[in-house]
Amino acid sequence: MTEFPAFALESLQDGLAIRALHRADWKPLIIDWLSAELRSRVRAGRRQLLARAAGLHRKPDARVLDATGGLGRDAYTLAALGAQVTLVERQPLTVELLRDAQRRARLSPDPAWAAAADRVLIIGSDALDVGRGQGPFDAVYLDPMYPDDGKSALPHKDMQLLRELAGDDLDALQLFEHALRLAPRVAVKRPAKAPWISARKPDAVLEGTRARFDIYLSPSA
Ligand SMILES: C[S@@+](CC[C@H](N)C(=O)[O-])C[C@H]1O[C@@H](n2cnc3c(N)ncnc32)[C@H](O)[C@@H]1O
Repeated sequence: MTEFPAFALESLQDGLAIRALHRADWKPLIIDWLSAELRSRVRAGRRQLLARAAGLHRKPDARVLDATGGLGRDAYTLAALGAQVTLVERQPLTVELLRDAQRRARLSPDPAWAAAADRVLIIGSDALDVGRGQGPFDAVYLDPMYPDDGKSALPHKDMQLLRELAGDDLDALQLFEHALRLAPRVAVKRPAKAPWISARKPDAVLEGTRARFDIYLSPSA
């Protein structure tokens, strides 16, 4: 018998959760922006690849459009490092979890973490509908779901659930072309060995072990 994917929102003690009903062995997904993992990412500072990709090493308070919000890990990291982030996510259940994560982060007893949560504006929409009027933006950051080739296992269980929920982002090229019109800098996160997102050669590349960031500059955008 084929099991169709089915998801439910549940209110648990630690926060709002998404449960994959067709994956009885998977833990429910809760977004926690104050997790030890995220705090250690923030402690890595503005020299880490993500921050440099978004241009924070030059402009710490850059206005960044994260057009593929997902679980908001990258968006919250950038905000905690000083950026003003507009996070766009189109998967509605994920948007509910993001809003809940933001609400909990705002209650942090540490004012710096609470302030970082305040620097994220969450928009539940398709990023193709976001226009220049919602900016201005110094940079657009894209981390589309890379089609599953069955080889590169997603490092995070949470990301596996997100992949089942959101699907592969097969329209990523269209989003990239839209992004080029929204900001002078577009940073695209890709698996380390993946091809460029389009035929256009990146203006700069930041290589990491698992992933790399391709940077495209259009000074007139
Ligand atoms: C790989 S995840 C991003 C993970 C994210 N960087 C993080 O730190 O958690 C990709 C997400 O982008 C979203 N997405 C893809 N294309 C989108 C679009 N055009 N508009 C809004 N969201 C989009 C998907 O729904 C998915 O949740």
